[in-house]
Amino acid sequence: MSVSAARPALRRAVRCSNNTVKYSTAKSGLLSSPASLSRSFSSTVSSHSPKTPNSSSIPEYARPDPSRPTHFGFETVTEAEKRERVAGVFTSVAESYDRMNDLMSFGWHRIWKDHFVASLNPGFSPLTSGPDPRAPQHILDIAGGTGDIAFRMLHTAHNINRNPDVRVTISDINPAMLSVGKQRSQSLPATQQAVLNFVEANAEDLTKTRPLHSDPSAATISIPDQSVDLYTVAFGIRNFSNIPAALREAYRVLKPGGVFACLEFSKVDKHPLFNAVYKRWSFGAIPLIGQLVAGDRDSYQYLVESIERFPSQEEFRDMIVDAGFVVGGQGYEDLTGGVAAIHKGMKPRA
Ligand SMILES: C[S@@+](CC[C@H](N)C(=O)[O-])C[C@H]1O[C@@H](n2cnc3c(N)ncnc32)[C@H](O)[C@@H]1O
Repeated sequence: MSVSAARPALRRAVRCSNNTVKYSTAKSGLLSSPASLSRSFSSTVSSHSPKTPNSSSIPEYARPDPSRPTHFGFETVTEAEKRERVAGVFTSVAESYDRMNDLMSFGWHRIWKDHFVASLNPGFSPLTSGPDPRAPQHILDIAGGTGDIAFRMLHTAHNINRNPDVRVTISDINPAMLSVGKQRSQSLPATQQAVLNFVEANAEDLTKTRPLHSDPSAATISIPDQSVDLYTVAFGIRNFSNIPAALREAYRVLKPGGVFACLEFSKVDKHPLFNAVYKRWSFGAIPLIGQLVAGDRDSYQYLVESIERFPSQEEFRDMIVDAGFVVGGQGYEDLTGGVAAIHKGMKPRA
């Protein structure tokens, strides 16, 4: 089955009471294709010609609405309230965030992040015409927090691919997280610091960003349409109040041929025994470690609940397709049995 033939089945979206969007996950040739998205899209993108979202075609559920119900962990709250409470969580955990990540994941988050960045191979553009694949790139790391992804991107682009024309914007809604990232970035080589930019922005509306710590009354800056080559979001998207809105903003700011890439906690349901152990660890140990190490049980209780509430690999893949992206193969790669997963989508060329 061609990708375009598969799309209507993928897009039977129904609104759910908790404001998540559920999609039918009818199996198709596209979804069961063995081809995997690994280092680039060039070998796996099919003849799919998805609709091109424009502002008039954005469905109502993908428009942020402060009063619409959504969930904060296991609680039902409004989108506005979730934004506020998520801000509270990350302001509270900012200083202990990096240490807690290591403790909660036994250091696995570093391996996942290394693999995520390696799979994107920043600084190397195999589709560039001409003999040198090292074209300039603008990478936008959304919900970039303390900089783990952005720093790895710069390292790979500058030191491994020897491409100094790669710049990275770290964007996050929370200035406390960005401040820790900014502090950490002081240890990067000066050439990398020079192409690193920190901005405060809500991923659901990238038309209103501001430089970190700028005057709140100053005019906001819009990330222009079609200005980004690679959009990354790691362990951030499950915290957003309106994920479809963020996916549409990703689509807007990416250039045709640009790539959306997400690393997020996911489902291990395919391995029941491992799933049982993992759940026991998550709900039993993580809030406790949060209490002992960071003095903050509630924030870590939210983190495990938010993982539980995040859509399955297939549901999230369908949301990416619904936002207009082309996915290759099954559209995602499980890491550590599905504890985390990488999803990628390409904005089609015109
Ligand atoms: C778990 S941290 C991930 C940080 C970093 N990407 C990493 O992998 O270490 C989640 C981040 O998402 C940010 N965030 C939550 N909601 C957001 C939103 N609506 N827009 C942008 N960032 C958001 C939080 O402030 C936080 O820094």
